Amino acid sequence: MICENIGVNDAGHLTFAGQDTLFLARQYGTPVYLMDEERIRYNCRLYTQAIAEAFGPGSGAHYASKAASFKHIYRIMAQEGMGVDLVSPGEIATAAAAGFPMEHSCFHGNNKTDWDIAYAMDMGVGCFVADSITELEAIHAQASKRGRRQKVLLRLTPGIDPHTYEAVATGKVDSKFGVAIETGQAEGFVKAALELPGLELLGYHCHVGSQVFDSEGSVYHDAADIMMAFAGAIQAKYGFRMEVLDIGGGYGVRYTESDPYVDIPANLNALAAHLRALAQKLGIAMPKVWFEPGRSIVADAGMTLYTAGTVKRIPGYKNYVSVDGGMSDNPRFALYGSAYTVLSAGRMGQQAQERFDVVGRCCESGDVIQPDVALPQPQRGDILAVCTTGAYNYSMASNYNRIPRPPIVMLSGGESYVAVRRETLEDLLSCDV
Ligand code: LLP
Repeated sequence: MICENIGVNDAGHLTFAGQDTLFLARQYGTPVYLMDEERIRYNCRLYTQAIAEAFGPGSGAHYASKAASFKHIYRIMAQEGMGVDLVSPGEIATAAAAGFPMEHSCFHGNNKTDWDIAYAMDMGVGCFVADSITELEAIHAQASKRGRRQKVLLRLTPGIDPHTYEAVATGKVDSKFGVAIETGQAEGFVKAALELPGLELLGYHCHVGSQVFDSEGSVYHDAADIMMAFAGAIQAKYGFRMEVLDIGGGYGVRYTESDPYVDIPANLNALAAHLRALAQKLGIAMPKVWFEPGRSIVADAGMTLYTAGTVKRIPGYKNYVSVDGGMSDNPRFALYGSAYTVLSAGRMGQQAQERFDVVGRCCESGDVIQPDVALPQPQRGDILAVCTTGAYNYSMASNYNRIPRPPIVMLSGGESYVAVRRETLEDLLSCDV
């Protein structure tokens, strides 16, 4: 199985976090997002323990909550000693409503409006990751109005290709995010930050991309080389010492059996050694290092259950199984061609003789969850499970075709509870006047 939390019980049913998925589908209805709370906590601890050991005090992880944002996830992050990365007033409001200690949050985004900045400050966001000089000025203006200094990191683009899919590669020179080092513009960015008294510059941020399989450590080591050299050059010229280096998120997860494993603690250890050697070589202090994992915290803690409906065979062409959700709850195949593992929850012991495109109920042909899946004798009423859906599924879900979003059901210690209830038709109508 692609993750240890997936199994099969004596009845031949698929289990998730040790619980029978057919039972859960009956109890909560479908489509439903399941989330394995213990797995989320386990993934958090992989980071917090390895970072504490390898980097020491002041370093840490901020969960990139764009991967899955709902109140309960922020409570889990607070309990696990994680900071959070927030990218919109909506995520800020959700974290605050959950009682998350906002001083441990960072506010990101390539286009924060004046209203966003004011709201984030009033909600007590700890650190802003500034994306441009004009944004620095806007943060300075709001901080001055409130008579305070706002902690900031500067988002820089180190010019690295992480060899992931184009839509999630963010650290290249021509990215819409941040300010490029290669073009010389990053220096002016730092100067501007140092000159604005409403800002307390902590250091620099970069994020090279998402779903990165960095088995040799090269992507993060390359980013570290560039960021540390830049910090050294700035320190020599302006005397500014980088206190924090935020190296972003991005470790990849296993969606299918053919995806590799990433040994996150080993990678973090190797990166710490690399950064220490660089600091020594450049004659600068080792910074506190922050990470922003999203996908690798929640992806393998998620599974979506659907009920199969129409089964259609077109002899000589292809076969389809339609499910009761689709691109409205998981747009990732439609957007990125993402691979997923699809299992027939009640037929785990049976051999598959045929292949099917597993498609959704939305009114377009691009509404595909996963093409070409081997499934044993699918029937109307079967429960199909899509694995590794904990990241960027609920958070990217829409009401396309006026389809209500599924609930999030948390699984923990053999129990289950609803963290986000199923949207109703009334919810769908609630904004219409
Ligand atoms: N930090 C920053 C600044 C980011 O932009 C991102 C992701 C992360 C951290 C977290 O990266 P992760 O650990 O999750 O790889 N919707 C796409 C993914 C977009 C990622 C955007 N940024 C998908 O479904 O694959």
